[in-house]
Amino acid sequence: MTERTFSIIKPDATRRNLTGKINAVIEDAGLRIVAQRRIRMSKAQAEKFYEVHKERPFYGELVDFMTSAPVVVQVLEGPNAVAKYREVMGATNPAQAADGTIRKLYAESVGENSVHGSDSLENAGIEIAQFFKDDEIVG
Ligand code: CMP
Repeated sequence: MTERTFSIIKPDATRRNLTGKINAVIEDAGLRIVAQRRIRMSKAQAEKFYEVHKERPFYGELVDFMTSAPVVVQVLEGPNAVAKYREVMGATNPAQAADGTIRKLYAESVGENSVHGSDSLENAGIEIAQFFKDDEIVG
């Protein structure tokens, strides 16, 4: 089934000028970038986006990191895009990520792990709506 998922290229990756290299991995995997914007995430946006993690010990660090430099927010489209992108990203901890995945190739640590991808179709819809209007997504 054709799906859309939400992606973020995180500050550790934009700082190292890796946007194009990460987009190449995404496109080579058959996912289409149907919306994309480079933004500086506000503290309020990051807090809201990661609200599910607010009781975790790393929440404050995560919000600080996500607001520390520009990010690229994206909508990716393709067959089974949610699961496909999670496969392309690799495990959250780059030490456990499979060869050829974005995190194996580029991530620095479990916190600074270069990319985010939605964990379910339902969350993809919620996350996309936090950053994009419908008419900004051109499939
Ligand atoms: P992400 O997919 O964006 O969703 C939650 C994020 O929390 C995750 O990627 C990591 O960047 C971050 N995270 C998860 N576990 C840890 C951890 N142990 N320490 C710091 N950050 C973490």
